[in-house]
Amino acid sequence: MRTLVVYESMWGNTREVAETIAEALGGGATVVEAARAPESVPEDIDLLVVGGPTHAFSMSRASTRRDAEAKGARSGDAGSGIREWLAALPSSDVRVATFDTRVGSVRRLPGSAAKAAAKEVRRHALGHLVDTESFYVADMSGPLLDGELERARTWGHELAAKCGARTHE
Ligand SMILES: Cc1cc2nc3c(=O)[nH]c(=O)nc-3n(C[C@H](O)[C@H](O)[C@H](O)COP(=O)(O)O)c2cc1C
Repeated sequence: MRTLVVYESMWGNTREVAETIAEALGGGATVVEAARAPESVPEDIDLLVVGGPTHAFSMSRASTRRDAEAKGARSGDAGSGIREWLAALPSSDVRVATFDTRVGSVRRLPGSAAKAAAKEVRRHALGHLVDTESFYVADMSGPLLDGELERARTWGHELAAKCGARTHE
């Protein structure tokens, strides 16, 4: 199974989750930042995984990414994120899973970049949604809460199983 994992990350937490999911999906997974991702999903891709940090209850925008940079974030690209990448993506029938990172202490609040991304996938027929998941950080800059990378690995295995591939233990 060939997977493309497209992510954005301001402090590196979402990148860590993206890399862990890709590892769990096995050798056929490519991880790329949204700002450098292809303009359309290559034809040989069986599963697209899209993830980003939750900003202001949704996917980030240029303004929230600038806010993050003003608060000391360094690893993101203020010019582009998954919102912009999805907005420019043509319709397709690829299988899609979305994830986000969010602050654990406010996990009962409804806003989620993963759910917002899933909504865009449905609205613009960007693919068939397989699953949506959130992973939790301790604070704005992280770190990921204990056990979250393990959960990301498990989710990667579940996605592989759902999409009919052998998992990579
Ligand atoms: C401008 C801004 C808005 C945010 N809004 C939310 C929010 O609505 N809900 C939430 O749980 N976390 C919120 N956060 C925290 C981010 O989700 C957190 O910074 C992110 O998960 C860290 O991931 P990263 O290291 O990949 O950037 C916000 C962070 C920033 C910078």
